[in-house]
Amino acid sequence: MADKDDEALLGIKGFKDSKHYEQVRPDYPKEAVEILMNKLGLLGEYRDKAKQLTVLELGAGTGKFTRVMASVLHDANVRIIASDPVKEMCEQFKDMLPDIEIKQFGAENIDAPEESVHAVVAASCFHWFKFKESIDEIHRALAPDGKFAVAWHFPSSQSIWMKPICDFLEPLYEKNCITWPLLHHEQIINRISLSEKFSCGKMLPNVLTKLQVPPEKVFNHFSSYSVVVAASDDEKMKFKKLFDETIKRHISKTRENNLTVVHTCTVCLFEKII
Ligand SMILES: C[S@@+](CC[C@H](N)C(=O)[O-])C[C@H]1O[C@@H](n2cnc3c(N)ncnc32)[C@H](O)[C@@H]1O
Repeated sequence: MADKDDEALLGIKGFKDSKHYEQVRPDYPKEAVEILMNKLGLLGEYRDKAKQLTVLELGAGTGKFTRVMASVLHDANVRIIASDPVKEMCEQFKDMLPDIEIKQFGAENIDAPEESVHAVVAASCFHWFKFKESIDEIHRALAPDGKFAVAWHFPSSQSIWMKPICDFLEPLYEKNCITWPLLHHEQIINRISLSEKFSCGKMLPNVLTKLQVPPEKVFNHFSSYSVVVAASDDEKMKFKKLFDETIKRHISKTRENNLTVVHTCTVCLFEKII
């Protein structure tokens, strides 16, 4: 069985195919990011725009969250520093967002001076971090009144056709000791709240997104999940079979041309405790 260190390595290995990740993962809803930026104190009517603030993004990947954040903050006088430990992700990020600063480092070794950033965000990645090391580092880098947010954008188990697929993946996550945010984000949030470095987490309103995807393209989305990337050939074959059967059954019942892929964007906010 993999331990936490193996999981962190898998997190890095699993995301090397940055182009595939970029193509198949959905974009974050602007509404959710706007609410978050306000709560982080980076936007809003009381914000003094003469003063430049800094937001550090951890695990930025190909910049899916960053580009929505950048558009929301476009005239807010906020410096965005993005980061990711994977070279391939940083390269893809530079191609996609050449005007935004990206640094190669992990959440456990943040390359930023003490108390130098006003906000830290981690979108769909905190579950990959080594907990204590990253919490200590985020706390160190944040200014005394700094805030920290975790966000996830995961497939919704409320979708009827997605449920059997999620149910198939669940034991694979267990078996390979990989944290699945869909099941574990509440535990992660509780752990941060209990860390004594941060206040109790405040949940922001969930935002649902719906994408209409042709059936032949839906598999690509699920094949970008770390648990599928890490599965054995036999597990991958069984997953594909279950996937095809589920989609066929659903389409023959509903007669829909496209499948509705539902995602939930969940965000939680923490304040630094001094
Ligand atoms: C699911 S992707 C999310 C990327 C982006 N934030 C988004 O929302 O699309 C997870 C990212 O976490 C990064 N990652 C994995 N381990 C990490 C660590 N220990 N510290 C920081 N980032 C890490 C991966 O390289 C990958 O880019």
